Amino acid sequence: MRAGLAALFALALTRTEPLQAQEPAGAIVFKACQSCHSLDPAKAGMAGPHLAGLKGRVLGSAEGFDYSPAFRAAKTQRLRWDEERLKAYLADPDAVAPGGWMSPPTGLSVEDRAAVADYLLGR
Ligand code: HEC
Repeated sequence: MRAGLAALFALALTRTEPLQAQEPAGAIVFKACQSCHSLDPAKAGMAGPHLAGLKGRVLGSAEGFDYSPAFRAAKTQRLRWDEERLKAYLADPDAVAPGGWMSPPTGLSVEDRAAVADYLLGR
């Protein structure tokens, strides 16, 4: 009986660990963005624009969002999001959109920024 319980317990452990590991690193980092950004284009009224379909999207082009002059200028230049630009923006928003309004979460490592960029550009 005791052995049976131990086996059950071991099974419970092996079943939960891989489940937790399945959440991609980028999804975990994205939790720090979710106070201002949604991945649902229909969700209005957040502090930042929705981030659905970011790969190849023109900067400053989320319908209905009131962007800073920096992003409005980027939009007229038809600049588009790709991995390099997104990582650069998260490291230093002024490097991509000088004078823009976003202050990104502090404390993200180079790996965190790469992971969240991968995550967002894949959706
Ligand atoms: C405190 C609120 C806030 C947080 C947290 C935040 N952002 Fe932003 N973000 C904004 C605002 C506001 C803008 C619009 C900037 C502007 O108009 O200059 C923006 C713009 C952006 C854009 C440009 C989108 C477009 O339509 O071109 C991207 C990409 C972005 N944020 C990614 C992120 C990521 C990734 C994180 C998390 C690591 C994050 N943001 C965290 C407020 C935030």
